[in-house]
Amino acid sequence: MTLAIGVDIGGTKIAAGLVSDSGTILESVAEPTPDDATKIPAIVADLVERLSGDERPVGVGIGAAGFVGEDRATVRFAPNIDWREEPLGADVQALIDLPVVVENDANAAAWGEFRFGAGEDTEDLLLITIGTGIGGGIVHHGQLFRGGFGVAAEIGHMRVVPDGILCGCGQRGCYEQYGSGRALVRDARERVVNGDPAAAAIAALGDGGDLSRITGPAVTKLAQEGDPLSVELLTDLGRWIGEGAAALATILDPRVIAIGGGVAAAGDLILGHVVAAFETHLPARAHRPEAAVRLAALGNEAGIIGAADLARVEPA
Ligand code: BGC
Ligand code: NA
Ligand code: ZN
Repeated sequence: MTLAIGVDIGGTKIAAGLVSDSGTILESVAEPTPDDATKIPAIVADLVERLSGDERPVGVGIGAAGFVGEDRATVRFAPNIDWREEPLGADVQALIDLPVVVENDANAAAWGEFRFGAGEDTEDLLLITIGTGIGGGIVHHGQLFRGGFGVAAEIGHMRVVPDGILCGCGQRGCYEQYGSGRALVRDARERVVNGDPAAAAIAALGDGGDLSRITGPAVTKLAQEGDPLSVELLTDLGRWIGEGAAALATILDPRVIAIGGGVAAAGDLILGHVVAAFETHLPARAHRPEAAVRLAALGNEAGIIGAADLARVEPA
């Protein structure tokens, strides 16, 4: 058995795991993502150190929430982390003596789902990860699709609303401003701030004005308990996600579309709306084979598992 380490750097936490070649996480560790992004390489190196035991891993794969260049080492840009032309691979490499490869977080997760999860039965998978932002990963004919410059599948920045909400990428109307966990939270807080009477249950989360307690998981829990406004917000979110998936299917023609990330934890509460919107908006529907739209299978571990596998099959 060859072991590899996968690291997933997201907006809120940095999670790492020691992963077997059958995609099983044998051991895992995590630290919060620091506000100061220059501290990230040292934290990653520390996590790797903590996971390196007697049996030496073959490499380290890092999934990072940003535009990763074709060198698979540099994060050119991240909308939700303070990274601009960040030499992440080299900075981590300087601290550890295992080969390091950097991949976009959603690409890594798509690879994990393709190898060991929701895409195991297909060669053509689109993974849509719904977290703080929206990430995309494309597996085309069994290969990760990186585009001409390494930054393909940045689906969160597909324009869905002309002149819409300003995004961290500098554009307006991006998919992730409407279909992400952050969008859900923004809309929930807005209802509370506007004094919407239907928002009583959501307002109670904030308990006298602490809006920071109105989070995606909290609203999802309320929806599971039947709070009508929370159900409505998740319905809207699912609709945005499904419409975007239909647009993406026109270009990619995937056989499977998997929905992952934190919001996927809402499960059937959201999936039905995604599927309904996908079907409603799919061009030439009924005259073409249709992708199976399903929940991702590996949960929040997809990025770790996929990044580790990429470090194994494609050492830097
Ligand atoms: C970033 C992507 C990332 C996604 C999910 C987006 O805002 O542009 O690089 O994959 O969020 O983390
Ligand atoms: Na991606
Ligand atoms: Zn954007």
